[in-house]
Amino acid sequence: MHFPKKLYQKLTQRVTQNSLRTLGEKNSLVDFSSNDYLGFAKSEVIFNKTHQFLTNNKLKVNGATGSRLLSGNHELYIIVEKQLAKLHNTETALIFNSGYDANIGFFASLPQRGDIILYDELIHASIRDGIQLSNAKSFKFKHNNIKDLKEKLLRFAQDNKSEIYVVTESVFSMDGDSPDLATMSEVINKHDNVHLIVDEAHALGVFNLGLIQELQLENSVFARIVTFGKGLGCHGAAILGSRQLQQYLINFARSFIYTTGLSPHSLATIKIAYKELIINNSQELLLQNIQHFIKESNRLQLNFIKSNSAIHCCIFSGNKHVKNIALQLQQKGFDVKPILPPTVPAHQERLRFCLHSYNSKEEITNVLENLATFV
Ligand SMILES: Cc1ncc(COP(=O)(O)O)c(C=O)c1O
Repeated sequence: MHFPKKLYQKLTQRVTQNSLRTLGEKNSLVDFSSNDYLGFAKSEVIFNKTHQFLTNNKLKVNGATGSRLLSGNHELYIIVEKQLAKLHNTETALIFNSGYDANIGFFASLPQRGDIILYDELIHASIRDGIQLSNAKSFKFKHNNIKDLKEKLLRFAQDNKSEIYVVTESVFSMDGDSPDLATMSEVINKHDNVHLIVDEAHALGVFNLGLIQELQLENSVFARIVTFGKGLGCHGAAILGSRQLQQYLINFARSFIYTTGLSPHSLATIKIAYKELIINNSQELLLQNIQHFIKESNRLQLNFIKSNSAIHCCIFSGNKHVKNIALQLQQKGFDVKPILPPTVPAHQERLRFCLHSYNSKEEITNVLENLATFV
């Protein structure tokens, strides 16, 4: 079978640049790489309670059977969306099949021709892809830099005919740091035509129900994206916002419309995982581990990007270099992954440590002491 030459060349280039991706196997190393921050993905309690809920409610079905606009709008969608809206202190929640779907659905459909999107230069690929599908013009601002954002706003916000959508993450996925959301929302809310959108993928469950709620900024944001595949350990995502926003997305977000809905089992898992988040003490254990990691990396004088979240990154320039250190840590029993371009900018290749409630203090000290031998 003929494989197109241009595609072959692109793969060969990845090999030459030492950046060819392959699918790894499940391993038994100490987990410093998964997004299962609270251990919910492996929680038997959540698994059993979900099973019990579905059985008690006679919901023995395997699939949604269609798009939510046709046959797929299972009654559990309504129940879970109400639960989410209440918990997240917002008018509505609209569930998407994943955070990727939520972001491309939002950014491809909301900003119109003549509108402007201002995005943090390190924004997640799912938002970039949504922006690429949009008819609006887009400009990046410097990472977490409010001064640069202000300058961009000054340039664009005077034109009252355009709407401006500003997007950031409350915890950056490949850096672990956070913007000053309070100042950002203050700057943005000076203008009627500027709207703030915050992706809370890596904050939900780590900082309770997300940083926007921790900072009581619910009424200052146009939309929040929460995803369930990380702290909640399951699957799916929701866009939180006004009733009009929900109505708009139901009508125009193509990644919402042209896809089969989630299975009732997925919805029940989201429902139970949220309940567990409120009563479970995993979050406290995670926060203690984050503090321990920060203390130990300071003691060992390791140069990590400043972060209070569950994600901690240490830059080692060069694909070969960073892959080699990751491999040596893996050989010592720690699952630490190298992050390469295009996921991060060239020359900013890094080791990304994800912390969990179930890591022990000894594991954290050990992995950092091993890392210290390479720097
Ligand atoms: C910031 C951010 N937003 C969105 C997503 C996508 O979420 P999901 O994995 O649910 O598609 C991710 C995960 O990779 C992410 O890190």
